[in-house]
Amino acid sequence: MTHVLHRSIAHRYPTAVSAKGIFIRDETGKEYIDASGGAAVSCLGHSHPDIIAGMRAQLDKLEYAHTSFFSSQAAEELADDLVAHAPDGLGRAFFVSGGSEAIEAALKLARQYFVERGEPQRRFLIARRQSYHGVTLGALAVGGREWQRRAFAPLLIETHHVSPVYEYRERRGDETAEAYGERLAEELNAEIEELGGANVIAFVAETVVGATMGAVPAVPGYFKRVREICDRYGILLILDEVMCGMGRTGTLHACEQEGVSPDILAIAKGLGGGYAPIGAILLQERIFKTIAEGSGAFQHSHTYTGHPLACAAALAVQRVIRRDDLLANVREQGAHLARRLQERFGNHPFVGNVRGRGLFQGLEIVADRGTKEPFDPQRKMNARIKREAMARGLMVYPMGGTVDGISGDHVLLAPPFIIDSGAIDTIVERLGEAIDAAIDG
Ligand SMILES: Cc1ncc(COP(=O)(O)O)c(C=O)c1O
Repeated sequence: MTHVLHRSIAHRYPTAVSAKGIFIRDETGKEYIDASGGAAVSCLGHSHPDIIAGMRAQLDKLEYAHTSFFSSQAAEELADDLVAHAPDGLGRAFFVSGGSEAIEAALKLARQYFVERGEPQRRFLIARRQSYHGVTLGALAVGGREWQRRAFAPLLIETHHVSPVYEYRERRGDETAEAYGERLAEELNAEIEELGGANVIAFVAETVVGATMGAVPAVPGYFKRVREICDRYGILLILDEVMCGMGRTGTLHACEQEGVSPDILAIAKGLGGGYAPIGAILLQERIFKTIAEGSGAFQHSHTYTGHPLACAAALAVQRVIRRDDLLANVREQGAHLARRLQERFGNHPFVGNVRGRGLFQGLEIVADRGTKEPFDPQRKMNARIKREAMARGLMVYPMGGTVDGISGDHVLLAPPFIIDSGAIDTIVERLGEAIDAAIDG
């Protein structure tokens, strides 16, 4: 009997009791390789002594101070650190406690910016189908996972969804990757024209799509065209790097590889690496200036905004990543992981596509490699793979609804930045066995 309302009420979850490095142990002593960092969170692995030391030092000084009374050294230093390494023009940071909160803050900041600029008619949001931006009502509204939105639809703010970048299934045979990206950018442009360019607040997109599709990057040139289109109509570009950001793809921010800088960047997960709940938005100086010279206050805050312990944890995580040059390891081991996945699954009859960037890789599971036909969702292939992987002491992040929100299955891998090639080989071997067992079973 449990009094916890667990995610899945019928499911019996093992209890995690300890963790170190890439491993988590449950109450029976069974050990799991954490090859997904939970949900792409634990970027430094578990129980890192330098993060714990940083958090202890903060606790010894100041555990909490409300931001309506005080700033804190931890929040100031973290903001300095993030701005110093941010894409062009992102000059301020606002701290929250997670990814959904970061998206809520981004949406409200974008709306307030236009109200203060004298453009209160801007009320529409545009986002993409098959995206995930979180579960709070604003984040759910922009999210493009249909089944998750359905029950709450009457409560959601008006958002218009355009196609995601999904090269594996949606690029036509006679189209180059660039032409495909151009077609998608044109679709966005047409949607904006339909709504009236002066009525749109923002376009929201994950730079590399995570939970809903399994590490799907954009095609070359897509985000540059999106940036141009947004600029043409004065629409803000909000990039959601809650999952794919903070080093996961091999650069601190995934948008660095796209050659664009957003107006607002949402980050979380790898920011604190799971040591504390923390998220943030980074915003362009011009948005800050509009509000600073207007009302003088962002009309949005939480009790735990800028929590000193969470900021200290995030600061320690970011310093360790730089000190140990871990982004170089993400790139090197990311390439090894991609290679090993290709070797093991490149001709696998039930794996249609291997994709990703850095230590953010995904496999799309199909019933037929030739036709790309997905498995019947009734077979719950993603749940089977998760079960078989856990049985083999492996945590990966499988999910269903890859193709259209209902059918399709994928497996997401997001191992910690401290991983070595031997551990990656073990992950790929166990994953292969788990997928084979799930399909046979
Ligand atoms: C891209 C993206 N945005 C937002 C969120 C929501 O973050 P959280 O679960 O911390 O609220 C997630 C979580 O998986 C995510 O992957």
